[in-house]
Amino acid sequence: DKGNHRHFMEKEIHEQPEVISHTLAHYLDFANGTSKPLDLPFDFARIDRLAISACGTAYLSGLIGKYWFERFARLPVDIDIASEFRYREMPLSKNAAALFISQSGETADTLASLRYCRSQGLLIGAVVNVRESTIARESDVTLPTLAGPEIGVASTKAFTCQLSVLASLALKAAEARGTVSAAEAKAMVRQLAEAPRFASQVLKLDAQIEKVARELSHYKHVLYLGRDTNFPLAMEGALKLKEISYIHAEGYAAGELKHGPIALIDENMPVIVIAPHDRIFEKTVSNMQEVAARGGKIILITDAKGAAHSTVNTLETIVLPDVPEIIAPIVYALPIQMLAYFTAVFMGTDVDQPRNLAKSVTVE
Ligand code: M6R
Repeated sequence: DKGNHRHFMEKEIHEQPEVISHTLAHYLDFANGTSKPLDLPFDFARIDRLAISACGTAYLSGLIGKYWFERFARLPVDIDIASEFRYREMPLSKNAAALFISQSGETADTLASLRYCRSQGLLIGAVVNVRESTIARESDVTLPTLAGPEIGVASTKAFTCQLSVLASLALKAAEARGTVSAAEAKAMVRQLAEAPRFASQVLKLDAQIEKVARELSHYKHVLYLGRDTNFPLAMEGALKLKEISYIHAEGYAAGELKHGPIALIDENMPVIVIAPHDRIFEKTVSNMQEVAARGGKIILITDAKGAAHSTVNTLETIVLPDVPEIIAPIVYALPIQMLAYFTAVFMGTDVDQPRNLAKSVTVE
C-alpha cells in the first residue's frame, strides 16, 4: 500500500526518519552512549582486515563504511563489487573477517562471494534487510537493517539503514580496538541519534528539489562530484538517476575531475556537487571553480556555512541543516534520492519498476 504517495519509492524515501531510528536503536545504547552488545563470531580487536563485498547501492554503502572503519577504528577494509570479488581469487588473510551487504539477501554474486569466503575459512557477517534470506542463513551472524519491506526497485531506505548499521559497527570496532575514548564514543552515539531528526528536515525541502529536478530533466548527461564519503554518495546519486530517469549520469571523486571528466564540461552538462562544509570543503570549491570556468552549471548541495563560503555561481544551492560529519552521508543521501525521484516523475518513467531492472538479481 502506497498510502498517500504516488509511488513506493516516494513512500520509502519518506519512511527514512522512522526506519533509520529503528535501525540505530537496534545497535546503539542511547542512554549509555555505547554500542549495544552483539553476538559477533569474530572479535574486532583481533582481526587485521575486513573484506566487504556487495552490489549496486549496497556496494556504495559498504564503500562509505570503509571510510568509517578505517577512520574511526583504524581497521583496514578491502571492498569489492561482488561480481569482481568472486572471480579475482583475492588472497585473504586468516585474520580477516568478511561482511556482505544486501537488501534482498538473494543477490547471486554477493552470495557467491560469501561462499568463496566461507571456503577460505573466514567468519562471516551479513547486513541484510530480508532476514529469512539465503545470505542471512549462510552467514555466521545476521546484522539486520530494519528498513521494512522495500518495494521500489531503486533502493532508498535500505541504503540509509545500511549506513546506520555500518556506522554503528564502525563504532563497535573502534570501541573494541581502543581507537575512541568513552567520551568520543558517547559523542558519536549522540550525533548518530540525531540523524532521523535531520532526515525529517531534509524531506521538507521537496519543493526546491522538485524545481531542480524539473531543470535536470532537460539534460542528457549529469555529473555528480564529491570527496571523502561524499564520493560514494556521488556514485549513488548517479546510479539512482540513471536507473529510474534513464538520464546518463556519472559519479566521480571531485579530485579526479581534472584527470579526465573535465573534458566533458560545457553548458549542457549539469554538475551536482555534494559538499557539506567539512575539512576538505575548500578543495571541492576549487573543483567547482574549474567547472564554472568552463560554463558548467552547478547544483550545490551543502549547508549554510558551505553556501556562505562557496565563491562560485551556482544554478541552484540546496542548503541542508548543519550536521555532524558522521551522519552527513545518511542525511545527504536524501536530497540525492529525491532529486532522482522527481526527475524520473518529470520524465514520465515507471519509477517503481524501471525498464530492464529487477528488484532482486538472482542470476549473475
Ligand atoms: O538486494 P541487494 O542489496 O543485494 O541488491 C543489490 C543491487 O542490485 C541493488 O542495490 C541495485 O543496485 C538497486 N536497484 C539500486 O537502487
